Amino acid sequence: PPTGEQLLLRIAAVSLSPSDYRQLSGDTAGVKPLPGGAFPYTPGGDVAGTVVAVPAAPTARAAHPTAASVFAVGDRVVATWAIAGSGGLADYGLVDARLTAACPPSVSAVDGAALANSAGHALLAVRAATVAPGERVLVLGGGGGVGTALVQWARAAGAGFIAATGADAGRLAATGVDEAIPYGEREWSTLPPGTPPYDVVFDCAVGDAAWAAVTAAPLGAVLKGAHDGGRCLAIHHAARIVMHGWVDLVRWSVRAAARVAVNRCRRAEPRYIDFIGRVDGGVLREVLAAAADGTLRAVIEPAGPFPQTTEGVRAAFNLHASRHARGKVVIRVAPETGGGWQGGATTQPSGPERGG
Ligand SMILES: NC(=O)c1ccc[n+]([C@@H]2O[C@H](COP(=O)([O-])OP(=O)(O)OC[C@H]3O[C@@H](n4cnc5c(N)ncnc54)[C@H](OP(=O)(O)O)[C@@H]3O)[C@@H](O)[C@H]2O)c1
Repeated sequence: PPTGEQLLLRIAAVSLSPSDYRQLSGDTAGVKPLPGGAFPYTPGGDVAGTVVAVPAAPTARAAHPTAASVFAVGDRVVATWAIAGSGGLADYGLVDARLTAACPPSVSAVDGAALANSAGHALLAVRAATVAPGERVLVLGGGGGVGTALVQWARAAGAGFIAATGADAGRLAATGVDEAIPYGEREWSTLPPGTPPYDVVFDCAVGDAAWAAVTAAPLGAVLKGAHDGGRCLAIHHAARIVMHGWVDLVRWSVRAAARVAVNRCRRAEPRYIDFIGRVDGGVLREVLAAAADGTLRAVIEPAGPFPQTTEGVRAAFNLHASRHARGKVVIRVAPETGGGWQGGATTQPSGPERGG
């Protein structure tokens, strides 16, 4: 049974994120190790479902209101992971109420699970970059889970021109970009003559090579210098800087300090932001409200949602691990009916699966 800030969910849909396939492939260099390095491990961190049990002791809950006390059995919710996704790919799972938000009736389980951490992370990234009205924005990896949401948040923040790189110009255009730059068609780091430089570059896909390309170009040719407000925000690093121990912590701190020093000393170069976001229940509420009012649209891999069968889950993971899924890869755990979804049983299962 759930205790403290836990909620027990009947899960309806779970979406995959890069940390899911990295954990299973053993490539944990960029993700938090499993608690105690323990297997068996249930993957999946972004879920939509129905609350089937809340912590007991209502008197104590009333005296000391907790995040869990806001939720009741039967609530439709979306939840995300604390650090590394776990426990979502199951019929039932424990989630943290502080990382959970009520799901508006008009938002489906599939969309809710798809948006959760990716769209939340994208929202925080746009805020960290302080995208201002009229600015010119480039999103590297604009077709991915984070990138598709980021394009939409940047537009909502008033960006005047948005370009994005990706495999599929159609998918990029559907998110509302002004210019799609398919891989191989032209180098994003070489702007056509007369094109003004970007104010912000978001890197969701490329890695250190993106910053190298920006700084290799003549000053202000691709991205404005820091004097003029140019900044490059690296999102992929958010997963790579998860600490595995003191050595990682020291290494990251030295690197971050060096970045700050370089930013201060070489004011002519664009500002570099190593982005770390933390998506909580408040951020999820904003994401879901935007999905409900139509500001934000989930981009779902068209081959899905995948069934929760051995073949379905295998296909979902293989596609996601390719890094070229055509939207968020979602596994449907319980069927949806009408505006809501099934699985809102009010009875607690006898043996709940391991939760997140
Ligand atoms: N999802 C989250 O909740 C979350 C949260 C925090 C941090 N992050 C980090 O953010 C990054 C992006 O995550 P995501 O969920 O958006 O991943 P994703 O959905 O798997 O998308 C991967 C993106 O990378 C692009 N890509 C693949 N190979 C490429 C290459 N060789 N060169 C350039 N681009 C390439 C893909 O483009 P096409 O599809 O167009 O081929 C796609 O846009 C990851 O590093 C992840 O760790 C993700």
